[in-house]
Amino acid sequence: MQMLNELLLPPTDQQFGMLAYLILFMLLFALPYLGLVLVSTLASTGLRMIKSPLDRYFLEPWTGGGPMITFGVIPFFCLMFLFQLYFYGSSLPVFEYFLRIMFPLFGGFLLVYLYGKSRAMILVGLGFVLLLAAAFFTISTIDLMLFPEIWAFVETPLPAVFSIQVIIHFLIFLALSILFTGAWLYFLYFRWPEHRRPTQTFDYDQMRKITGGMMLGGVLFLPVLMLWDFYTLPVYTLTSPAFALGAVTIVLLGVLALAIVGILRATVARFAVTVMVLATIVFGLVLVNHQLLYARANQEHLTLLADQVKKEKENWTAEREAKRDANVVADEKLGEKIYNERCTACHLFEQRVVGPPYNEVLPKYVDNVAALEAFIRNPVKVNPDYPAMPNQGLNVREVKAVSAYLLSTYAAKE
Ligand code: HEC
Repeated sequence: MQMLNELLLPPTDQQFGMLAYLILFMLLFALPYLGLVLVSTLASTGLRMIKSPLDRYFLEPWTGGGPMITFGVIPFFCLMFLFQLYFYGSSLPVFEYFLRIMFPLFGGFLLVYLYGKSRAMILVGLGFVLLLAAAFFTISTIDLMLFPEIWAFVETPLPAVFSIQVIIHFLIFLALSILFTGAWLYFLYFRWPEHRRPTQTFDYDQMRKITGGMMLGGVLFLPVLMLWDFYTLPVYTLTSPAFALGAVTIVLLGVLALAIVGILRATVARFAVTVMVLATIVFGLVLVNHQLLYARANQEHLTLLADQVKKEKENWTAEREAKRDANVVADEKLGEKIYNERCTACHLFEQRVVGPPYNEVLPKYVDNVAALEAFIRNPVKVNPDYPAMPNQGLNVREVKAVSAYLLSTYAAKE
């Protein structure tokens, strides 16, 4: 596990910019779908208990293998890797967190899927509990993004699980899911009745009342929960865009409430597209809004991380360059050429020109070619009797070559 947590390379600056967006993008699939299955499962079980023939219609549309894999399984795998990058450098065991999410999640999906085939109550009951647990763990893991200051101390998700914030966010998730599921069911069966073509037993009026009731419940609870959320959020996360988005969301909820009351009071179906679109937008807005809060909460962490990554990269580059330089072979032919072209203007072996005669300065370098190379590469002031030597701008290969040439010529003269 430790190995898996450390397997990742540090993210680059550009990747960091993308991370929050990618996480948001995946959450926009994963959370609404999880909510949809969760709420449909509960509603369907309830309907079956009161022996309403409608119960099948709640689960059927979204619990096939295709939607489950596309919206349920794949986004969670992606989220696992994205979160590992996001929390890079913290001691959080992100991988273990995701195991805790994925076991109940996939188990729950599987049970609900099997229930669709066998209709055994035990499956759907257990499936619901597992999905509920998975949703709770998901919310608590996402919420870790809100509190970078506790990362250092968190060993398991439990401390964060019972914070008031996580509970409020979980309730918000449930209210959103109820609204979202009601709206999509209503849309599905009233906008596309001929498309779904339910059987004779389909009770449109009951369907309208149940889905309308679900939507109304969600719409009434959400503003209360959202205000409570704003009230308890860490102060440093509140920014004006977050407030503005919250306000827009509440206005949309007002419009939704009007449409839903209209739906409940009428005997014919209407506003199906409106409620579906609005409920979807509201779900999205709430997620975007929370992402803004997280981004704000983690600004410092991300800056620090970017710094650390930059440093690590510089170290790598330096190391690689050192290794490469060590492998350069001194080419004395090239050295001679450089000597004639670049050094003789100021140096000869026997006599002083602008610079000192090599015969005088080379002895101290005989056993220390590295020091000679370092000087030629980057001359420093040595002798007060001479002006400073200007940097000749030679590369590693050229410096090695000319150093070797000077030393061997000097040795030959001795
Ligand atoms: C523009 C003139 C000029 C050129 C060109 C020049 N040098 Fe020098 N060089 C100097 C001067 C001046 C000094 C004395 C610097 C001092 O003592 O601070 C010096 C000093 C040195 C020293 C002695 C350093 C020591 O530890 O005392 C070496 C070795 C040397 N040069 C090598 C080279 C090589 C190799 C080249 C050609 C790639 C070169 N120089 C080109 C002006 C030049």
